[in-house]
Amino acid sequence: MKKVTKAVIPAAGLGTRFLPATKAMPKEMLPIVDTPTLQYIIEEVIGSGIEDVLIITGRGKKAIEDHFDKSYELETELEKSGKYEMLQEVQKISRMINLHYVRQHEARGLGDAIYCAKSFVGDEHFAVLLGDDIVDAEKPCLKQMLEVYEEYGASVLGVQTVPEADVSKYGIIAGEQISDRVYRVHKMVEKPKLADAPSRVAVLGRYIITPEIFDHIKNTPPGAGGEIQLTDALQSLAQEQAMYAYDFVGRRYDVGNKLGFLEATVEFALKREDLRDAFLAYLKRIVKNTP
Ligand code: G1P
Repeated sequence: MKKVTKAVIPAAGLGTRFLPATKAMPKEMLPIVDTPTLQYIIEEVIGSGIEDVLIITGRGKKAIEDHFDKSYELETELEKSGKYEMLQEVQKISRMINLHYVRQHEARGLGDAIYCAKSFVGDEHFAVLLGDDIVDAEKPCLKQMLEVYEEYGASVLGVQTVPEADVSKYGIIAGEQISDRVYRVHKMVEKPKLADAPSRVAVLGRYIITPEIFDHIKNTPPGAGGEIQLTDALQSLAQEQAMYAYDFVGRRYDVGNKLGFLEATVEFALKREDLRDAFLAYLKRIVKNTP
């Protein structure tokens, strides 16, 4: 079985849920404390041992490329003023990993965005990470999934059970549980109504997929929301090949949603040694004084 060496991160979405902040700034650059959400995703990829990442961008996303590029002017300034720690931090970002970019010309859905990765992926199994899902875990979420992939040699979807009220926000699977954390997937539905949902097990922005997916995307008509859905193409692929879902270990934040974004901001700040004490004291004070 070939090792997975490539990951794809779709970042072409318009970020309408975060307007007006995302009018001129890519939503992937919104910071949690002081780090863009996309950088957390890239750090997970690196922590999982993957070497090449393709970011699917679109118009208005130049800040993403600049963020991960070398910044001569800033580095010279930081060096001149003796801010070596910050200099190292800035240099680390541009040396992180091999990044590649391709543009999706029209926002036609997640399936269509992934199709833009076809020639980058070639004939290999590859990982997909969605920028709206940040997972805080001791062992990176993708690394956990790669271990499951190594056991089964097939597509693996990262899932967790969600509350009933959230079922209609996600791709939901039907499957049989074959071990503590692994399901064999029989069926998938994109954003079903609760009454039509086959379970509460939701796909949460992490995938390891076989390259045959591209043929299925090509033949997938627009689905939920009039968009070409990755879930529909995966459902079609699952009729042909074994597919598994893995209930990953970790706290997952939906940072594409305002409440999820705030939760991540607060919890990540509380984990930072330089902020924790003062921030916690502030939170306690404000909670006490808020009716
Ligand atoms: C996408 C996928 C959906 C998945 C979700 C995870 O939806 O289409 O299947 O469950 O990400 O966050 P989106 O949230 O982009 O609408």
